[in-house]
Amino acid sequence: MSMRQPGITNFAGQRVWVIGATSGIGEACAKALITAGAKVAVSGRRLDRLIALCSLGQVDQCLSLPLDVTATEQIDQAYQDIVRHWHGLDLLLFVSGIYIPLRADNFTFELAEQTINANVLGPMHAVAVVLPEMLHQQAGHIAIVGSVAGYSGLPKALAYGPSKAAMINFCEALFYDVQPRGLSVHMISPGFVATPATAQNDFVMPALISPEQAAHEILAGIQQGQFDIHFPKRFSGFLKFLRLLPYPIYFWILRRFVKI
Ligand SMILES: NC(=O)c1ccc[n+]([C@@H]2O[C@H](COP(=O)([O-])OP(=O)(O)OC[C@H]3O[C@@H](n4cnc5c(N)ncnc54)[C@H](OP(=O)(O)O)[C@@H]3O)[C@@H](O)[C@H]2O)c1
Repeated sequence: MSMRQPGITNFAGQRVWVIGATSGIGEACAKALITAGAKVAVSGRRLDRLIALCSLGQVDQCLSLPLDVTATEQIDQAYQDIVRHWHGLDLLLFVSGIYIPLRADNFTFELAEQTINANVLGPMHAVAVVLPEMLHQQAGHIAIVGSVAGYSGLPKALAYGPSKAAMINFCEALFYDVQPRGLSVHMISPGFVATPATAQNDFVMPALISPEQAAHEILAGIQQGQFDIHFPKRFSGFLKFLRLLPYPIYFWILRRFVKI
């Protein structure tokens, strides 16, 4: 089966919805898209950050759509606002996510539920909302930020890891269905990026990159029509290799080299 799918060669005039635009990777993506001349709808819970972002654009270039991804009706409402203003959407870029470090000692059902609601059901709901019209148009892009933490089980990721593994599987299954129908799916797996989410980490993060570098990788991958957008390659490539190993070797390497 061919992996070819359309890219977005020029973002100018494209209608893009960035969910999780108030901070970190999503904010850097939104800024780059505004600079590139896209029409950008920005979402997140912090209205002041959305308004500040919109002030960077031309008049009518941005839409500020505050929402909580765990409140389904707020996602529905925001999409209706986009359609009312722009009559459709070319790219859903779902970046929003939460990371709560969880090991066996502090694992609770409530924290797991919070993570799954935000990182799995949130993006699934956004996709469910935009899919019907994209399928009807036989065009459109769905990009979801997962993580290399979804490749295989890692320490301190008892709920985060499974939530990101779910998104990898979701993107694969979605690609299979929609690529023959003219849509593009972009599965985004970042390594460590210096954002408020990782500022809480108490260990040295290998191959750490800036949110601007991450945004560059993401937008370049979407431009080229890539399905599997992962970076930085020196780290994401290594983790892709690790997951292929037999479990005894995999866990030996983790215990030997991951000191967290
Ligand atoms: N940083 C890394 O090293 C790294 C690595 C791999 C993957 N990722 C993934 O990249 C994505 C962005 O992470 P980041 O590091 O940029 O984190 P961040 O700086 O903490 O930003 C998270 C974004 O998600 C939004 N968000 C969180 N919960 C939300 C909710 N319930 N409703 C609406 N918006 C919500 C936040 O907006 P509000 O707070 O305003 O709602 C914010 O815009 C996440 O999916 C993360 O898992 C990050």
